[in-house]
Amino acid sequence: MQINPYYAELPANYLFRDIELRVNAYLAHHPDERLLRMGVGDVTRPLPRVIVDAMHTAAEELAHADTFRGYCPENGYQWLQQRIIDSFYRPRGICFEPDEVFIGEGAGSDLGNLSELFDQKNTVAILDPTYPAYVDANIMAGREIVFIPCMKENAFVPELPKKPVDIIYLCFPNNPTGVVLTHDQLRLWVEYAREHKSIIIFDAAYEAFVSEPGIPHSIYEIEGAKEVAIEVHSFSKSAGFTAVRCGYTVVPYETGLQAMWMRRQCTKYNGTAYIAQRAAEATFTPEGQKGIADNLNYYRETATVIMDGLKHMGYEVYGGTNAPYIFCRAPHGWDSWTFFDHLLQQCQVVCTPGIGFGRCGEGFVRFSAFSKREDCIAALVRMKEKI
Ligand code: MLT
Repeated sequence: MQINPYYAELPANYLFRDIELRVNAYLAHHPDERLLRMGVGDVTRPLPRVIVDAMHTAAEELAHADTFRGYCPENGYQWLQQRIIDSFYRPRGICFEPDEVFIGEGAGSDLGNLSELFDQKNTVAILDPTYPAYVDANIMAGREIVFIPCMKENAFVPELPKKPVDIIYLCFPNNPTGVVLTHDQLRLWVEYAREHKSIIIFDAAYEAFVSEPGIPHSIYEIEGAKEVAIEVHSFSKSAGFTAVRCGYTVVPYETGLQAMWMRRQCTKYNGTAYIAQRAAEATFTPEGQKGIADNLNYYRETATVIMDGLKHMGYEVYGGTNAPYIFCRAPHGWDSWTFFDHLLQQCQVVCTPGIGFGRCGEGFVRFSAFSKREDCIAALVRMKEKI
């Protein structure tokens, strides 16, 4: 037996596990401290009642012979696929067949698994800083990665690759910087992909946070994108499903990859839980939409509280307007981990170090506005007193 040699090239721990280990080590020595968690982008607001009721109903159906269900279709129930097309895409003038929309357990798995569709010899472009799963999945596959620097100097907006690349990962609104692209900026990437016969894997996990006009919610708002883009969505951040687990990936026929992804899913995925799919369906009801909008507004307001508080203290901050993340430069010329350690030890605040998202994130930390409002306010007070 020979193990996959590329695993040796990964950092020892996944970023969020690394942070959890450090936090646990701190808590082991300070068991009575109450931490203010603004690190991982995990939701804190309860689910709208209509969504919970849908899960109760679905669970009850499984208790009766006449409504019982076994395996779900590998790519999801058509009633959910159609609901997504009718509620999210059609109002934007975009059309898909249900078979192009693959229901899954969330964006994280698909973003990693999609890498299986492509030859090892492909070159991959990944923004720096970035959500670390794209990098890890391609290191595991042994691919060459070209990092595209996103820095203050270019307003964290990526420039097109200088050498030809085959696979491009884009995430907008961006994790971790919170920056968005305009239609014109995104169009450049679609045109690049069409010219170079590349494929874009577009992570739209945070699209629900777009609040300014003129910012695309979907890459398919750009003409020609269906031929060159796969789009990955999650109900985790838009509807608070981090525990429920449901998302969807659109693989248009025009990419030539739909049949391959279907083949992959049928072999390796036994379908998303029926209860989770009914919960996802309920997000599109009027009550579901209202409950979700209320929660999103709560997180948006929290983002504003964090941004304003940090700016007031003189911090340099980015994002937060169309995204739940605030990217903040460390004070005193500290590096990311030094600031992280100060926040943890002096303020009992947990953030995510920018360097964990790539070299260009060095000197920054990311605060998540998915945290409880009162914790964010308390964190700002402690930072003012102690940093
Ligand atoms: C993050 O904090 O970057 C994300 O929440 C992690 C994830 O979605 O897997």
